[in-house]
Amino acid sequence: MGMKIVSTGSYLPERILTNADLEKMVDTSDEWIRTRTGILERRLAAPHEAASDLGAQAGRLALERANFSAVKVEAIITATITGDYPFPATACLIQERIGAKNAFAFDLSAACSGFLYGLVLARGLIISRQYRNILVIATDTMSRVTDYTDRSTCVLLGDGAGAALVSASNDDALLGSYLASDGSYAQILYVPAGGSRLPASQETVEKRLHYMKMEGRVLFKVAVQAMVEAAKKAMEMAKTSAEEIALVIPHQANLRIIQAVAKNLSFPMEKVYLNIHRYGNISAASVAVGLDEVITSGRIKRGEKVLLFTFGSGLTWAAAVLKF
Ligand code: ACO
Repeated sequence: MGMKIVSTGSYLPERILTNADLEKMVDTSDEWIRTRTGILERRLAAPHEAASDLGAQAGRLALERANFSAVKVEAIITATITGDYPFPATACLIQERIGAKNAFAFDLSAACSGFLYGLVLARGLIISRQYRNILVIATDTMSRVTDYTDRSTCVLLGDGAGAALVSASNDDALLGSYLASDGSYAQILYVPAGGSRLPASQETVEKRLHYMKMEGRVLFKVAVQAMVEAAKKAMEMAKTSAEEIALVIPHQANLRIIQAVAKNLSFPMEKVYLNIHRYGNISAASVAVGLDEVITSGRIKRGEKVLLFTFGSGLTWAAAVLKF
């Protein structure tokens, strides 16, 4: 008894913000952004689009591709840190939007690691034998918490959503996984105000405390170590060596981080899927969109193993080995 990935979907907003656009907004250059991050452009949600709109599009596409009726979905797990409202859960808004009226729905807050946390949780619900069909949706609108006067963060982030329909199966597609957190690093990547610690006020707005703050250099080091650790643990659990992995889908935060992790794990870059140049860091949606793109482009074939790993605010990190 286990889970299989029945179908996937993704949605990237239309508006493109290029490095040239950012050059006009802050003191930066296309050259700096390319060489330090690998990012060429990112997508931004339209003013009328919120996290639930992106997530609903991705979820709907996953259901359509499987020709699967929304009323048969029993649970919706939505990984997001930029939900439409502090409450209710964005998952409930998506449930209503896609007509999944028989599903229970809740949000999962694990930043960039949310999609892998969601997949592991969905598998747990399935092997409890209480639920058979679950929609895991990762959606983030990082542009809504990005300070476009802060060059150290605004060049990195974008918006997007990815989804996977997972169902009960005799063969388990999730061969191994590893989830971890370390709250001692909570303040190196966070939004200081707008929660119960520092509710919104005139002062918090004036001090720009509703935007993401990040200590990039510290994160860089921890991210490499954490993703190497997670990938090794997931492969160990899956009894799979690096040579047996057909493709790696890393969290796309910085090309240099991805290269460092790949080198440490002895993966040639040809085995590493990249979309960072097109989207930048789309938080929870990053590996979800990567998974959808490698499946729909035919880059992975039946029977092949894929390694996904990710890292984000919390701090949280995770890895999973999936077999198709
Ligand atoms: N354009 C030009 N110069 C810049 C920019 C910019 N956009 N941003 C920073 N700089 C400058 C800095 O001010 C600094 O100048 P100084 O030396 O005069 O002080 C110089 O460039 C070098 O800055 P560093 O911070 O050392 O640059 P680094 O090579 O570390 O790259 C980066 C910065 C890209 C942020 C990197 O540290 C990184 O990717 N960190 C990890 C980010 C990450 O993974 N975030 C997590 C995910 S987000 C989430 O979970 C939602």
